[in-house]
Amino acid sequence: MADTRAGTAGDTTSPVSGYPMPRDNRCPFHPPAGVRRLTAEEPVSKVRIWDGSTPWFITRHADHRALLTDPRGSIDESRPGFPHMTRGRAETAKATPKLITNTDAPEHTRLRRMVNLPFTVKKVEALRPAIQKITDDQIDAMLAGPDPADLVTALGLPVPTLVISELLGVPYADHEFFHHNSTVALRHDSSAEQAGNAGGALFGYLDGLIEQKMTTPADDMLSELAARVQAGEMTRAEAATMGVAVLIAGHETSASMIPLGTLALLQHPGQLAVLRDTEDPKVVAAAVEELLRYLTIVHTGVRRIATEDIEVGGQVIRAGDGIVFDLSAANWDAGMFPEPERLDLSRAARQHVAFGYGPHQCLGQSLARVELQVVYSTLYRRVPTLRLAVPFEEIEFAFEGIAYGLRSLPVTW
Ligand code: HEM
Repeated sequence: MADTRAGTAGDTTSPVSGYPMPRDNRCPFHPPAGVRRLTAEEPVSKVRIWDGSTPWFITRHADHRALLTDPRGSIDESRPGFPHMTRGRAETAKATPKLITNTDAPEHTRLRRMVNLPFTVKKVEALRPAIQKITDDQIDAMLAGPDPADLVTALGLPVPTLVISELLGVPYADHEFFHHNSTVALRHDSSAEQAGNAGGALFGYLDGLIEQKMTTPADDMLSELAARVQAGEMTRAEAATMGVAVLIAGHETSASMIPLGTLALLQHPGQLAVLRDTEDPKVVAAAVEELLRYLTIVHTGVRRIATEDIEVGGQVIRAGDGIVFDLSAANWDAGMFPEPERLDLSRAARQHVAFGYGPHQCLGQSLARVELQVVYSTLYRRVPTLRLAVPFEEIEFAFEGIAYGLRSLPVTW
């Protein structure tokens, strides 16, 4: 059907692409060809999402930085016309308590201040030795177990899950329950009912833990949230929902990056050698930034809605229009990162938007950076013979979540 891009000045013939767009199986690390074409030719365009609506589609790096800091772009998903990620999100939006992920300033600033402390650079740096120990223990266990091993279950999932469980004060023993429900809550192909049930199960679980922490507090984030509830600074529902958000975001994302980054490096042995052979933390830090840019795992667009008219790239985004920001497009914008398809660990990639940009930029970015720095710099040094146990073509990617990843990564050494 020849849809037209309503709202695009002077152009009524170009078809509006559906979004998210599929990737090319032959180069699964590359953003979809359609996204790259729009970045080059029509950086402010429109796409059609699951409900048939056609939000604006922003692809250039400079436009991301300008619009994601513009207070006329709202993240309040209860506004009519908000370009929801999934049907499940649309149906639960009105009932979701106020949270850092659905409020604008000044409410957002107040809520974010309440949860910021454990994620500051200083606090996260203090966790580095514990993250190193967790990583070494998991690698020891992998090396002592069957060869080949699956790097997703041996390292990718357990390291960030152990770290976030410790930080929040969630028993790691429950990891199968919360990992399963996080995955179902975020999948694009979950029905609204499945997503709602999974979200409800996680909410009930976190709410129960907050209740426990009210009587028996410990040195963890849920106890801090429980104390804020007792002090009347936030409601119990807000605290439990915040706990759910941190638990989900805190383990799903790094869990995707660890195997994906390893696969990308195994495909680029010269680059892997850079990480394996260095002791310089600056080289390791730069490598992590480039892997974050190259992979840009949050691949289905961050979403906003305009509260006033906004002019950008010769177009006018009207008040009430939805906006989708494709972070992978911005991170592969050749105007910002020349030859973006080249994985180059020495590139100055720190300006990437893999963690988003502006007030909602990732709360856990320092933690993710330290986890990735520790894991990547330890794994290839300790297991220099690490290699794929199956041909690259047989490795299955998982694109149905908000962050893409691998179903498994069979490796041998
Ligand atoms: C490689 C790992 C990660 C990536 C690529 C990533 C990516 C992102 C992105 C793109 C956003 C912005 C969403 C938006 O603007 O709408 C975001 C926000 C967020 N992330 Fe992460 N994230 C990662 C790890 C983590 C970790 C480890 C945690 C928690 C411990 C976390 C917690 C959050 C939270 C709570 C927000 C919402 C912030 C707000 O709205 O103010 N993330 N993340």
